[in-house]
Amino acid sequence: MCGIVGYVGPKDCNEVLVDALSKLEYRGYDSAGIAVFSDNEIEIVKTKGKLDDLRNKLKEVGKPSGNIGIGHTRWATHGEPSDINSHPHSGSRVTIVHNGIIENYIELKEFLTAQGRTFLSETDTEVVAQLLDYRYNGDPVKTIDECMADLKGSFALGIMFKDFPDRIFAVRRESPLIVGVAKGESFIASDVPAILKYTRDYYLLEHNEIATLTVDGVSFVNEYLQPIEKELKTADWDEEAAEKGGYPHFMIKEINEQPTAIRTTIMPRIKDGLPYLEENGITPEKLKDFKNITIVACGTAMHAGMVGKYVIEDLSRVPVSVDIASEFRYRNPIISEGDLVIIISQSGETADSLAAMRLAKQKGATTLAIVNAKGSSIAREADMLIYTLAGPEISVASTKAYITQLSVMYLFAFELALAKGTVGKAEIERLISALMKMPEAVQYVIDNCEEKCKYIATKLVAAESLLYIGRGLDYALSMEGSLKLKEVSYIHSESYAAGELKHGTISLIDDGMPVIAVATQTDIIPKTISNIVEVKSRGAKVILVCTDACARELKEGIADYVVEIPHSDEMLMPITAVVPLQLLAYYTSVNRGIDPDKPKNLAKSVTVE
Ligand code: F6R
Repeated sequence: MCGIVGYVGPKDCNEVLVDALSKLEYRGYDSAGIAVFSDNEIEIVKTKGKLDDLRNKLKEVGKPSGNIGIGHTRWATHGEPSDINSHPHSGSRVTIVHNGIIENYIELKEFLTAQGRTFLSETDTEVVAQLLDYRYNGDPVKTIDECMADLKGSFALGIMFKDFPDRIFAVRRESPLIVGVAKGESFIASDVPAILKYTRDYYLLEHNEIATLTVDGVSFVNEYLQPIEKELKTADWDEEAAEKGGYPHFMIKEINEQPTAIRTTIMPRIKDGLPYLEENGITPEKLKDFKNITIVACGTAMHAGMVGKYVIEDLSRVPVSVDIASEFRYRNPIISEGDLVIIISQSGETADSLAAMRLAKQKGATTLAIVNAKGSSIAREADMLIYTLAGPEISVASTKAYITQLSVMYLFAFELALAKGTVGKAEIERLISALMKMPEAVQYVIDNCEEKCKYIATKLVAAESLLYIGRGLDYALSMEGSLKLKEVSYIHSESYAAGELKHGTISLIDDGMPVIAVATQTDIIPKTISNIVEVKSRGAKVILVCTDACARELKEGIADYVVEIPHSDEMLMPITAVVPLQLLAYYTSVNRGIDPDKPKNLAKSVTVE
């Protein structure tokens, strides 16, 4: 995801900005750029590619000489990676770098176009630069404050005004931004690692606060333009930990990034309260004729497809089959012209998924890829494409990619149901509004369930084998819970449709065997509870993940441990219910002394069969 840096001080700005950006590389990016005040003019150098490409370009065009500037690494969201879409972006008197998403950029762009403004790039960022320039009233802080009222979304901005060559400005809403201070110099950055080489002292910019950085120091105002004093913090991370943003592992960092990942993924695809996938080439006209859908993927991505199957079939009544890519490609699948084949992949490079997609195309199907890695093979070759905007996922165990794959599955299912006319607009609006609340709901689960999951994980350390059970969507989710646990803890586990247990698997239940039951679907909760009673009476230790409503009605002693999650729309429950399953897997792994980021025998991108 994008990285922002900024510097004001005595040093050569180019050096500091590029060095600070290099500390944000772990976030992933596809282009980079800097803007520097040089002889009172703002000079911009930017390029598609890596920091080495930027270094080469700086050599080629000549480094702007100056001590005050801003820099950026971009992870493309609006518009492909290209020189022109790279940051910084400018209106004539204002230059900015930006992290996050401006949700209402289409409306703002229309407004500014009507005022005679033209745009060079496809980015939402340039819209903000132009808006700041349009609103500029000679007072940068007031101008920024006025524009904040116009902007919707979560974002952080580093800003330079041509008329004020001795300072830079910063503001944020939701997206992180810190302001570092040292003697005679100050910094802005998306994350502390960027500035650790220069200072450990920093301020955390809060929502809608505006910072002004000069060589004489840093000042802050709140959204009412009142000057404020802020608490100075001191970082105490070593460098390796700092790259993980203070978290001990990427897996837990990425679990914590899920609210942002969902928001970033869904918001650009919602317009006027309805799904908006036209920018992805997906229109109701294209969708309405598909009579069969096959979802093909591997591992966690396939589990997201399982949830997709339930939701798509329920809403649009189109039959959906889900296939493991390595099976699909070798079994002469029944696919023909007029079918839709959806390929889900975080890396976009999984060999089996890529081969399955090529086979589907050969057979005349239309292909839709749901991919996280920009410009990957699956993304390039698919007929239609929706990127999950989870940002780089570094931990081998997929967490935030899965949750964004689910989010896209919902958006697609809603769009398809509208195209097919199987669900009315009002109901889809209601579902979209529920989906928009999921980032907060996931944050709530992280904040309120982590300690409990950590404790329960201490009870799983010595287990030799576990079962995950659920029905319907809860079964689809159990599959993911089970995979997550086994890959990072090396404990054998299986997921089972709860009603199928008594047809064989229940014979595995022994005294003390942990069974993790998921029960979030009101109409089938009593059935799942009966299955829990069956395993409990055979000695199982039951960990129940259920809604708060379900927990209130539970009889004493049904489960040994209960993890309650807030009730949201039932169809969307997998988005919140997966979080405790991820946390249980993570803490079990850590308790067993395993590095959850690098489980043995596994790779992040499986490019061989
Ligand atoms: C599990 C995991 C794997 C991947 C699978 C597919 O945590 O990460 O099961 O989901 O290898 O990879 P992608 O999504 O890159 O195609």
